[in-house]
Amino acid sequence: MRVFVTGATGFIGSALVPELIGPGHHVLGMARSDAGAKALAAAGAQVHRGDIYDLESIRAGATKADAVIHLAFNHDFSKFVENCETDRRVVETLGSALGKDKILVITSGTGMGTSTPGHLITENDPPVSSQVIPRAASEEEAAKVAARGVRVAVVRLPQVHDTRKQGLVTYAIQMAREKGVSAYLGDGGNRWPAAHVTDVARLYRLALEKTGARATYHAVAEEGVPVRDIAEAIGRGLKVPVVSIKPEEAAGHFGWLAHFVGWDIGASSTQTRAQLGWNPTGPDILTDLNNMNYSQR
Ligand SMILES: NC(=O)c1ccc[n+]([C@@H]2O[C@H](COP(=O)([O-])OP(=O)(O)OC[C@H]3O[C@@H](n4cnc5c(N)ncnc54)[C@H](OP(=O)(O)O)[C@@H]3O)[C@@H](O)[C@H]2O)c1
Repeated sequence: MRVFVTGATGFIGSALVPELIGPGHHVLGMARSDAGAKALAAAGAQVHRGDIYDLESIRAGATKADAVIHLAFNHDFSKFVENCETDRRVVETLGSALGKDKILVITSGTGMGTSTPGHLITENDPPVSSQVIPRAASEEEAAKVAARGVRVAVVRLPQVHDTRKQGLVTYAIQMAREKGVSAYLGDGGNRWPAAHVTDVARLYRLALEKTGARATYHAVAEEGVPVRDIAEAIGRGLKVPVVSIKPEEAAGHFGWLAHFVGWDIGASSTQTRAQLGWNPTGPDILTDLNNMNYSQR
């Protein structure tokens, strides 16, 4: 298949491009800089120069492809709501550029599934409203694209990791470095799911190859890792004390991360594994955190 990949230069995109090219897919990767274009070309992809704020460039990329995998996102969390609304517009544009027989794979998070205390979030749990969690805008727009007959796969991601990056945990590491303590909220028993980046890349390829009309997948290898265990791994790595922060002190300590740090979002991937034949094999997140080089920033 000829696949247009946005965010092809990012953490997950860089693992996805070879995962697609290996079995013979043709990748048209979006780059917004010369350095990104160079890296994509070196990886064997064709380069499409574009930007998520230039919707015509997004449309032009999609019309050249049989399928789109959309990963690009502006991770400036000081403009989180604005960035989520930008993603809504990008998903809308990609969807309107694709015909009925084409496939659009978009990216969401496991935290977007409506959760019930004490239960793992499943692929069948509908997304929360974007009024509650702004990042749900992408799934809301994807549902509209699917209603128009485009084949749509929603990939909900957990903390995606290797020994260099680990999703929100990367920001928690930066914060621990700055503050001299590695912190969790309350008893730290709330859980975050996780998956290794190579397993996540394989799941995107399988979603591309196997999705019928419409599906939601959970790229979850570990259903829920207690945030206290993550904070302790960071504390060992940075050689800083590990502390509990009271809920009333969370905003002061964690800043924008306070919005996420107390989330209890254990999630299942039983259905995804059965539908896609996906069997994650990569190291777990605590192993990657233990093997990380904390002297590199
Ligand atoms: N990593 C995780 O644990 C995790 C968890 C949940 C959801 N997600 C979602 O998964 C997707 C990929 O995440 P990631 O970890 O690979 O992120 P990342 O490493 O930050 O990569 C972001 C990608 O988006 C591109 N991008 C940013 N602003 C852009 C713009 N204005 N125009 C065009 N491209 C732009 C970046 O291009 P440059 O290379 O030019 O900067 C890069 O290719 C995102 O939607 C993210 O929110 C990730």
